[in-house]
Amino acid sequence: MGKSKSPARILIVDDQRSNIDVLRDILQDYDRAIALNGEQAIKVVRSKKPPDLILLDIMMPDMDGYEVITILKEDPATRDIPVIFVTAKREISDETKGLQLGAVDYITKPFNAGIVKHRIEVHLELKAHRDRLEELVKERTAELDEARCVAESRKRAAEEGVRAKNEFLAIISDELRNPLNSIIGFSSFLGEPDLPQEEREQYLGIVNNASLSLLNLINEMIELANVEANEVQLQCEPFDLGDLLDGVVEEFRTSAQAKGLDFRVDLQEGLPTVLNGDAKRLQQVLRHLLKNAIGFTNQGEVSLQVEQQSQTPDAETIQFSVRDTGVGIPKQQQELIFEEFTQLEKAFRRVHGGLGLGLTICKRFVPLMGGRIWVESEENKGSAFHFTASFSRHEGG
Ligand SMILES: Nc1ncnc2c1ncn2[C@@H]1O[C@H](COP(=O)(O)OP(=O)(O)OP(=O)(O)O)[C@@H](O)[C@H]1O
Ligand SMILES: [Mg+2]
Repeated sequence: MGKSKSPARILIVDDQRSNIDVLRDILQDYDRAIALNGEQAIKVVRSKKPPDLILLDIMMPDMDGYEVITILKEDPATRDIPVIFVTAKREISDETKGLQLGAVDYITKPFNAGIVKHRIEVHLELKAHRDRLEELVKERTAELDEARCVAESRKRAAEEGVRAKNEFLAIISDELRNPLNSIIGFSSFLGEPDLPQEEREQYLGIVNNASLSLLNLINEMIELANVEANEVQLQCEPFDLGDLLDGVVEEFRTSAQAKGLDFRVDLQEGLPTVLNGDAKRLQQVLRHLLKNAIGFTNQGEVSLQVEQQSQTPDAETIQFSVRDTGVGIPKQQQELIFEEFTQLEKAFRRVHGGLGLGLTICKRFVPLMGGRIWVESEENKGSAFHFTASFSRHEGG
């Protein structure tokens, strides 16, 4: 056995001192423990320093070797310790009985030092191999468990993907079908020769609205697909910030009024008038945020605040904040709403429409404009969506 490691511990069990002395002598290289009867032997085996191998005499008064090994083999804590029987008789029945009871080998008295040492070495080595194998099996099992865990979580993610896709298809087919049905239905009414003028105008309005919402939906989908394919390139052209904000605000003033909401616009003084950047994208982000603010607020006020955040000789960073006094968003869902197709209240969807894409589009566009977007919100109190955007300064602007 390895001399560099601490020597293996061998328990010698024999009721005759003389035998013990001889074996102790032969096994000088090992850490030796002795027991003079079966009971003592079991105590040593169950002690804090159990042996690595046991030399067990068969013929002992009170408890013989067969009884001792039977007890050891019944206990999971001791059954793996190799036992070599020591027998004076060379009767074949002794040997087979011992082996049947679980002994790994036997040696005979009188002892031949070479044989004793050799057999002990062989069995210690075998045991070390078996321990290593068990260790290996444990490691492999752990690895397999881990692999199974990973596979299961991949499977769950794939299932979740399929579920989300199905849900998306269900939503999208509704969103497409409803306006299309309106267009087909009401445009066919328009063909009636006796249709009163008033109804004709009403139907035309419906057809027009449905077409616009369809166009809007298709645009949002294309936009998102483009951003996801990294195909969006921002324009950089001069635009008038005041004009842009007026346009967006005008667009939403009516819908705010229709819900009885105050609509305030707050522009910091001294904001640059002309900026260089992608006016269309900026407008889109503002539109998505204002549409949400009005959509998710039933009373109180919606406001848009614009202020300069920082300035360098070549660029302006401007912060836009859209606040509302609406339903608010629970803290744990404030990250989630920026994910695609996420809508917190399914019930809202029916009233408010939408696909859950608005904030996803904002979240993708804003970094392209050199800024970031974030939300502050409290349930039933309201929300504030802020984003920043950088614009290169327009000469003379
Ligand atoms: N101002 C807000 N107040 C309360 N909840 C909001 C607000 N803005 C967004 N949310 C929540 O976040 C969800 C996602 O918003 P998002 O704009 O991405 O989608 P949507 O408005 O439902 O649909 P879409 O914008 O595609 O028409 C909303 O459905 C809503 O639950
Ligand atoms: Mg929205």
